[in-house]
Amino acid sequence: MQHNKVLILDFGSQYTQLIARRVRELNIYCEIHPFNKIPNDSDSFKAVILSGSPNSVRGEDVLHPDLSNIRGKKPMLAVCYGAQYLAHFSGGEVAESNTREYGRANLGFIKSEDAFFENIQVGSQVWMSHSDTIKTLPTGAVLLASTADVENAAFKIEGETTYAIQFHPEVYHSTDGRQLLKNFLVNIAHLDQDWTPNAFVEETVADLKAKLGDDKVVLGLSGGVDSSVAAMLLHKAIGKNLYCIFVNNGLLRKNEFEDVLNQYEGMGLNVKGVDASARFLDALAGKSDPEEKRKTIGRVFIEVFDDEAHRIQDVKWLAQGTIYPDVIESVSATGGPSATIKSHHNVGGLPDFMKLKVVEPLKALFKDEVRRVGASMNMDKQLLGRHPFPGPGLAIRILGDLTREKVRILQEVDAIFINGLREWNLYDKVWQAGAMLLPVNSVGVMGDERTYEKCVALRAVESTDGMTADWVNLPYEFLQKTSNDIINKVKGVNRVVYDISSKPPATIEWE
Ligand code: XMP
Repeated sequence: MQHNKVLILDFGSQYTQLIARRVRELNIYCEIHPFNKIPNDSDSFKAVILSGSPNSVRGEDVLHPDLSNIRGKKPMLAVCYGAQYLAHFSGGEVAESNTREYGRANLGFIKSEDAFFENIQVGSQVWMSHSDTIKTLPTGAVLLASTADVENAAFKIEGETTYAIQFHPEVYHSTDGRQLLKNFLVNIAHLDQDWTPNAFVEETVADLKAKLGDDKVVLGLSGGVDSSVAAMLLHKAIGKNLYCIFVNNGLLRKNEFEDVLNQYEGMGLNVKGVDASARFLDALAGKSDPEEKRKTIGRVFIEVFDDEAHRIQDVKWLAQGTIYPDVIESVSATGGPSATIKSHHNVGGLPDFMKLKVVEPLKALFKDEVRRVGASMNMDKQLLGRHPFPGPGLAIRILGDLTREKVRILQEVDAIFINGLREWNLYDKVWQAGAMLLPVNSVGVMGDERTYEKCVALRAVESTDGMTADWVNLPYEFLQKTSNDIINKVKGVNRVVYDISSKPPATIEWE
């Protein structure tokens, strides 16, 4: 089945990924590409959206791609910079605004007979974020909407299916943004809304079957959402030819290795649990620098994984749980030809000595889509809702050098905190939570005795992608009970603090 595809040309706006998510929420597939790298198969895209940009069409760093193969040939929606681009290069005029126009505005005039504004009323709130304004519309344009401060808030080009808007329909504050995108994509571009999680599973499984045939595939499971969903898709496609390896690095949460391994076996996966705790902890002994700890864990993981992969006869493929945000090419702040690819631990893939081909079944999905795909395969809700957990595990939550005793202490503390969040129905309200073992001892009293023991910090944050985060205002009663439980039950800890720093400037992990 061939789906409609929408091409989103990225001019570097902070909201570009949000446009993609909104389009996909309408069950329409889309891809983001840099403005200066229009795909060769642009014919396969049925509509095009031009994103916003931090740049100005009047500046020296104007981003000016050749759109002659697209403009007027397929439906196009130009957002913010996109709209100014159309105006500036097609006979209109763009000038600096008298005032920078940020925030809420209301559509005071709407050409309501146009299909673009179906089911959208005068007064609808929209979100503005621009410092240039379109003074004169381009040649052939018809005004479609205005706000009190922005006369040319929306227009279309007569004789084309080209639409342009100064505001951002993708942000939550544009209350009819979803309807507007739907009007453009469904009413005007006539796209089908058939890209659903079920369809994704069906097609991906068929593709994987065709691609992999009787080949054997090896996959490293981490206990996280992405690798688990990738494994399920591959399992549906090739069954026992998928060989999963789940490594215990000794830095997982309390009982996690056994619990998750049981869960994977229950799902019918062909999974081998490898307890390499001693190998990791021995390699980490005496190391206290965070980057050195990370590198050591990465190196030992590859060694262990490679040993195990070599035990499988004739394996041809390495599967990875890479997701879409890891592979989107980003437009650099200065735009232009210097667009870079984000570096990420999952991209760039395998070490040289593992001469395997790579298969990445989730490469087109955002995180929330991965969860929906997992749900459509009836995967366990608790597994799909798990908080992110870093690859180096508790090693980067034990500040300074690592010992087995410190790992044990932190596992106990973390288990009390995380189980408490579940019991108090707070777990799903938090994006990520964990405990840090600090390299300080402090004085306390227990009974009549003076103690001199460890301090732990609890951290719980809300976030959408981990790039920015804020601390969660957990109930005092919960913090009070958790602190008491930790100090009473975990030998070696006599003080608990709660981290109230946002990211930026702090990071989520302490190392
Ligand atoms: P920071 O601490 O950078 O964390 O604010 C952002 C997100 O990334 C996770 N994180 C890591 N994940 N290897 C990983 O796989 C790492 O070395 C690593 N460091 C941080 C962190 O848990 C959070 O979700």
